[in-house]
Amino acid sequence: MGVLKHYKELLPITPATPDVNLEEGCTPLIYLPRVSKRLGIKLYGKFEGCNPSGSFKDRGMVLAVAKALEEGKRAVICASTGNTSASAAAYAASQGIPCFVLLPAGKVALGKLAQALMYGAKVIAVKGNFDRALELAREGAEKTGCAMVNSVNPYRLIGQRSGAWEICDVLGKAPDWHAIPVGNAGNISAYWAGYNEYKKLGKINSLPRMMGFQAEGAAPLVFNKPCPNPETIATAIRIGNPVSAHLARAAVNESNGEFNSVTDEEILAAQKILAAEGGVFAEPASCAPLAGLIKLKGLNKLPEGITVTMILTGNGLKDPDTAMSQVGKPIEINDTLEDLMKVLESK
Ligand code: F0G
Repeated sequence: MGVLKHYKELLPITPATPDVNLEEGCTPLIYLPRVSKRLGIKLYGKFEGCNPSGSFKDRGMVLAVAKALEEGKRAVICASTGNTSASAAAYAASQGIPCFVLLPAGKVALGKLAQALMYGAKVIAVKGNFDRALELAREGAEKTGCAMVNSVNPYRLIGQRSGAWEICDVLGKAPDWHAIPVGNAGNISAYWAGYNEYKKLGKINSLPRMMGFQAEGAAPLVFNKPCPNPETIATAIRIGNPVSAHLARAAVNESNGEFNSVTDEEILAAQKILAAEGGVFAEPASCAPLAGLIKLKGLNKLPEGITVTMILTGNGLKDPDTAMSQVGKPIEINDTLEDLMKVLESK
């Protein structure tokens, strides 16, 4: 039914809020038996790749675009490592308003670029990193009156709280740990706010430890200082100066959580494990939490038997290039049964 309808009572919806809806939300919370066994925990993946534009961004974008229209704005703008732009472009298309997206040139996964272009956004490749593109987008928004739909827009984070509500609605409780990739640091903050709201409403009686994971080459929250030249294969979280750093720190401190970093190699290994042992194909950034859980298990820092939800923030199909560089090629055969049997009978 879409996030705005599903959680109408918990969102700032007024009679004047337009009914924007791409049937986002209600994504599957998938129990992962084989990966759970490997880690000695109860592990669930919330597969945000099932959202209409293939990432969690749709939860907040639907509200941000609805409120922009309600406030009389007639165009949206954002900077993005790829998913925000795909989502903004999709909702703008659905409402027939222009969308401008600023991307770090050459650093956006192919599927995300294809999405923004197909949805009809004006795509601007900035010769600089995401952090610089975000500064420019903010200035552009101020000068033109376009609605800024990055997570500096408060409605984005309010809509993203719905992920936490769904988890609690399905589990009937909060998880012990909430594991999540951290880039611009909005989502971890939104989830923490969402869990707290549910606790206040008496819908859950405990709160999870918020465990944020960053890529080692782009880990300003782990190392506690901005990273001027962020670099990682997980381009979605290739961010050196997160705008919501203060909120993310508060979430981790208040929940007795942690920030940890993982290497690109660990992220890619986790992506393969999630696909080959979980049956779920998520993009590299989304696999930072699993990489982190594996790392913590190796350090004896993962308590036995706890319930962990990890947020699989984006669909693996968005970044086919990275996936293909990790796997072998198909086995090519002539169109004969003999050739086929050779393959089927080989060890
Ligand atoms: N995972 C994916 C797949 C993302 O696209 C992002 C952020 C994150 C995790 C991190 O979330 O920023 O709330 O801490 N992508 C943004 C974008 C920056 O432009 O698409 P965060």
